[in-house]
Amino acid sequence: MIKQLTATAITALALSTGGAIAAGDEGHIEDVAFSYEGPFGTYDKEQLRRGLKVYTEVCAACHGLQYVTFRSLAEPGGPEFSEDEVRVYASENFTVYDAELEEDVPAKPADHFPKSGVENAPDLSLMAKARAGFHGPAGTGLNQMFYGIGGGEYIYSFLTGFTGEEKEVAGTVLYGNSAFPGGYASMAPQLEDGTVEFDNGHSSSAHHLAEDVSAFLMWAAEPKMAARKQTGFVAVLMLVLLTSLLYLTNKKLWAPHKGKDFDA
Ligand code: HEC
Repeated sequence: MIKQLTATAITALALSTGGAIAAGDEGHIEDVAFSYEGPFGTYDKEQLRRGLKVYTEVCAACHGLQYVTFRSLAEPGGPEFSEDEVRVYASENFTVYDAELEEDVPAKPADHFPKSGVENAPDLSLMAKARAGFHGPAGTGLNQMFYGIGGGEYIYSFLTGFTGEEKEVAGTVLYGNSAFPGGYASMAPQLEDGTVEFDNGHSSSAHHLAEDVSAFLMWAAEPKMAARKQTGFVAVLMLVLLTSLLYLTNKKLWAPHKGKDFDA
């Protein structure tokens, strides 16, 4: 029985750490203090808007976001665009293929972002949850229980981790990257200071751009994170309340029998 329980607990632990434990030659991951972290963390609306701009102007050239709809940009907790802003953003930046008209037409709010345009560039919709930043201590993945899995940190470290080294393998150029497992990725460095500029004059240093687009991709992968945390918190409060009521009930029920000497 005890053996069985231990096995179940270990499986549960492995599952709760996202199965991301086995990353042999893990790279170097920077910790970033994202606003969405911790039990009460929420997304920073302005940061998500900046991140969307970075995605649109840089990453969208190769990477799709095929599981994200344009209208989700208007949902509470996200970039919180107005309906009009969503309509303008979608139609100005993206086209979708209309089978009836047999041509590409401007995207509408109900459409999804396009798929990746470059064959080996992965879709980024769920990337922030598919990559784990924290594997320690000693590869057990226990840190993920305290720091989260670190998908945002991984993307940030990947984008800022280019070492400047290049090598050619079987006709493909690979770029040295200190976060990428194996140390070389087929994506070239994308962000430099000022690659994307913001109307409100917000810093456009490479590090800030990387932080913003990483936060945006975390939102894309988990748009309801704040609602989930809130529900969890209420559930824990209810359980605490229930526990105290049961404790008091138990005391009351047993009170008449306590202290009696049954042997007498
Ligand atoms: C010129 C095309 C191109 C652009 C632009 C581009 N990428 Fe990539 N990206 C790639 C390719 C190709 C890969 C696959 C790399 C590999 O597996 O070696 C990749 C991989 C990735 C990965 C996955 C790394 C992993 O662990 O598998 C992430 C995250 C990523 N890109 C984020 C971004 C972000 C964010 C931007 C915008 C700032 C961006 N990319 C811009 C081509 C591009």
